[in-house]
Amino acid sequence: MNTPDASAIAVRDLSKFFVAANGQKTRALEKVNLHVNRGEFVSIIGPSGCGKTTMLKMVGGILGWDEGAIEVFGETVNGPGPERATVFQSFALLPWMTVLDNAAFGLKMRGEGRAERNRKALELLEVVGLADFANAYPRELSGGMQQRVGLARALAVAPQVLLMDEPFSAIDAQTRLILQTELLDVWSKTDLSVLFITHAMDEAVFLSDRVIIMGARPGHVTDVIEIDLPRPRTEETRRDPRFVELTGFVWDRLRGMIKDERTEGRQ
Ligand SMILES: Nc1ncnc2c1ncn2[C@@H]1O[C@H](COP(=O)(O)OP(=O)(O)OP(=O)(O)O)[C@@H](O)[C@H]1O
Ligand SMILES: [Mg+2]
Repeated sequence: MNTPDASAIAVRDLSKFFVAANGQKTRALEKVNLHVNRGEFVSIIGPSGCGKTTMLKMVGGILGWDEGAIEVFGETVNGPGPERATVFQSFALLPWMTVLDNAAFGLKMRGEGRAERNRKALELLEVVGLADFANAYPRELSGGMQQRVGLARALAVAPQVLLMDEPFSAIDAQTRLILQTELLDVWSKTDLSVLFITHAMDEAVFLSDRVIIMGARPGHVTDVIEIDLPRPRTEETRRDPRFVELTGFVWDRLRGMIKDERTEGRQ
């Protein structure tokens, strides 16, 4: 049922098991609850293996779950949908296609004609500053530029929900800061709802309205932190004492978790 006040994403009591080749059952997620409001930017941070990618895939409709529910705009997820787009860590560009064809790929999959999809893709390449590289191939681009193409491809289909799995983790530290600002710039001009996974605490705080912290074995939500920094976020934000304080708070929570895990491992 589509209600006007429904969250963009609602994850309720979500649990997921994986069965290994030897038959052993792993509980990847246990009763995960979270939501993303319309137009909100929410990040998830947590130790490796806590189920972040697994959960994002389930919201994206490319992986099923065992218990609980996921709704996007009040509708139960039962596969991928045109209102959701995903940006991956590995860029996932097609090496034999030009930048323009890569950016237009999602539109092609939706059956848009060549002229229309090229027009839209070029518009988005302009937004991410790559219009001059439309006829280049991915191998001719730096990592940061390839990830811009990944973002253009995701945005070209005009999604309402953007799912991002460590999109900037393979990118050098300086370019990463610039991409963060560019992403916020695009987001602020639309009503996109974003669920963003990262390992970088400063990135989570800089980008988000809320940061969700997850713990491992099995994956679960431990904290939800409101990021009360003013917008627009700028380079000044990174020097704001409140930014430093919030980043420190996230680290305290994560460090506690890692310490507990190490102590457990010794027993
Ligand atoms: N296809 C699969 N088959 C079996 N187990 C899996 C599969 N995919 C994930 N897992 C397990 O589920 C758990 C969560 O994995 P996931 O990749 O979601 O973690 P993550 O939080 O994204 O980690 P990282 O930060 O390293 O990317 C891990 O224990 C992992 O081994
Ligand atoms: Mg992952």
